[in-house]
Amino acid sequence: MSDLQTSFQGRWILAKNLPALPAALQEAMRLAQNPNTTIAELAEVIGRDQSLAGNMLKIVNAPTYGFPGRITSVHNALILLGFNMIKSLLLAAAIFEGASGDMSGLWRHSSGCAVACRELGIRLNMKNTDEFFIAGLLHDVGKVVTAVQLPEAYMEISRLAHEQDIILPEAEERVLGMTHTHIGAWLAERWNLPATLRDALAHHHHPASAPPALTIASIVHVGDFLTCLFEYGNHGEDRVPMLDPHAFKHLALDRHKLGTVVDAIGAIFEPGKA
Ligand SMILES: [Fe+2]
Ligand SMILES: [Fe+2]
Repeated sequence: MSDLQTSFQGRWILAKNLPALPAALQEAMRLAQNPNTTIAELAEVIGRDQSLAGNMLKIVNAPTYGFPGRITSVHNALILLGFNMIKSLLLAAAIFEGASGDMSGLWRHSSGCAVACRELGIRLNMKNTDEFFIAGLLHDVGKVVTAVQLPEAYMEISRLAHEQDIILPEAEERVLGMTHTHIGAWLAERWNLPATLRDALAHHHHPASAPPALTIASIVHVGDFLTCLFEYGNHGEDRVPMLDPHAFKHLALDRHKLGTVVDAIGAIFEPGKA
């Protein structure tokens, strides 16, 4: 395992072998940097790639998103959700799709966490609910990278966590010398995502360690916890992540507000939905 650890920490393997993003997505992301680009131009680029467009409509029409079955064109999806949201959804779909093996459990966990983060933001009267949704969707993307880059290490981490009954980040530290939070943050930087998003990925298990991004990291922390509590999807370990009381305190999340969030996400997570 020491060879794997050394190679992984070198990070060059990640840079070299990371699944390529679809050409249309790269083109759309490039266009989006230009303030003069119109929604029609973006929709045209995304629509040129049938699988990308199909994926996008599938994601935005999933019950977890809130417009079940109502968005039928890429153009309308861009108008309703905005390009930043679409870009993040497509990035997440591309990385999950590039993974060999079955990542559907983790995708479900991530989609569920996205919904929980958005609901937390809404109930706490916060503004950045779209950003919270994206952070929830991408929070465990480091696990996908490990599964893609180092499938043997990924299996070893799962085995270690299960057999020794330790939390996944501890097993990741032992096997890789880093956790999925470090890898996710690195990927966010590589994708040029905003710094707050990168910090949310980096600190979602220990929000108090991220003073500038304490709010978004706390939202993801609690969203992740609730998604695991509902056993929605599969986050790769048997345990529910440890809850950091700082997150509750920082968000001023009292029993009543928490109850409304639990009710809202419970309705979405009902068996048979999503
Ligand atoms: Fe995590
Ligand atoms: Fe998670």
